[in-house]
Amino acid sequence: MNNFDYKNPTKIIFGKDTIKNLATEIPKDAKILMLFGGGSIKKNGVYEQVTAALKDFQVTEMGGIPPNPEYDVLIKAIDIIKSENITYLLAVGGGSVIDGTKFISAAALYEGDPWDMVMNRKPNTVAIPFGAVLTLPATGSEMNSGAVITRRALKMKIPIGGPALFPQFSILDPTVVRSIPSKQIANGLADSFTHVLEQYVTFPIGALLQDRFSESVMQTIIEVAPKIMADPNDYQAASNFMWSCTMALNGLLQKGVPTDWAIHAIGHELTALYNIDHARTLAIITKSHYTFNFESKKEKLAQLAERVFAIKVGDTESKAIAAIEKIDAFYHSIGIATKLSEYVDEYEGTAELIEEKFTKMGMTGIGENKTLTPENVKEIVKMSY
Ligand code: NZQ
Ligand code: ZN
Repeated sequence: MNNFDYKNPTKIIFGKDTIKNLATEIPKDAKILMLFGGGSIKKNGVYEQVTAALKDFQVTEMGGIPPNPEYDVLIKAIDIIKSENITYLLAVGGGSVIDGTKFISAAALYEGDPWDMVMNRKPNTVAIPFGAVLTLPATGSEMNSGAVITRRALKMKIPIGGPALFPQFSILDPTVVRSIPSKQIANGLADSFTHVLEQYVTFPIGALLQDRFSESVMQTIIEVAPKIMADPNDYQAASNFMWSCTMALNGLLQKGVPTDWAIHAIGHELTALYNIDHARTLAIITKSHYTFNFESKKEKLAQLAERVFAIKVGDTESKAIAAIEKIDAFYHSIGIATKLSEYVDEYEGTAELIEEKFTKMGMTGIGENKTLTPENVKEIVKMSY
């Protein structure tokens, strides 16, 4: 097992009817900027619950944060923060709203051009404090310190992060799942499942407990997927779905083990180019990434086959191949297509564009071994057409 530090300061408040606890989590004298998305919270009762809980606070609202939170929209919050003397941010939404709030919290205190803050890749150590009410289980953003910001005009989608970007608290009420469209539930299942893969399908390092944490999260997601797809009102399924998504990317699984994240790095480029939902870009890349890197990943793939997909017969190679097929079948089982050509008509040239982008950004060695070159990435993308 590798050495590691582990600190996660986010308080989780989990369960039915917990949004009202907001009032006790935010300092009484806070001037709050409440941030939300395109309006789902106004249709499903979440907005009413939040405003009722905050009735004794001074609250300014800013809606309109789009999926894949857009820099040009987020930047508008900085003027509001200054003019209203805001001291606390509250994200009410899915990963995009929470990520957008993380960016705003750091950008508001950044001296200089906020885009430089995104591009300089330095950890964010200063930010306005913020909390979250999660409305869409998927990203884990509610309990981690990462965010991904999009600037459509530049066709860029860039991760940021740092110790100041952990929410102070996050409220996870599984009843919010009831109003989520099945397409977004499928996205949450696929995104969280792939988060575990990125921290597990690398090479063996003898981290027995970490492996079993990861396997248990994947098993739970697989078990719960058909139930929550069939009935988002199933509270047991919703609560297991929600907690699995949080556990998949709250930092615990990656401690002491090598991590990959190449699927995400390539996937972000597909969203930047074609606006494909984040989770679906992962489903497009996973099979070809694992096929291309088969030799270095086959032992963990075989372990995944044995322990998660219960494939007990065959040698390492055949089990590893079976695991790749099972992962692809899992995406399909929740209605997610896994080829780029199923999303985009004009896909020729995509691989070369991404190769060029990786070279320009200096991403010349990615994956757990830091050996995947832009040229390799091009091959992986081509295999995903
Ligand atoms: O905007 P509204 O109207 O709220 O609608 C949203 C949005 O259209 C809707 N929605 C959310 N909760 C709902 C609901 N509709 C009905 N009922 C509810 N309860 O769902 C749509 C998608 O929301 P979004 O927040 O974009 O989805 P998700 O949570 O999947 O977030 C995706 C973003 O997170 C980033 C992705 O790259 C992408 O930009 N990620 C963030 C990560 C992190 N911070 O750690 C890691 C991930 O790998 C990922 O990259
Ligand atoms: Zn993801």
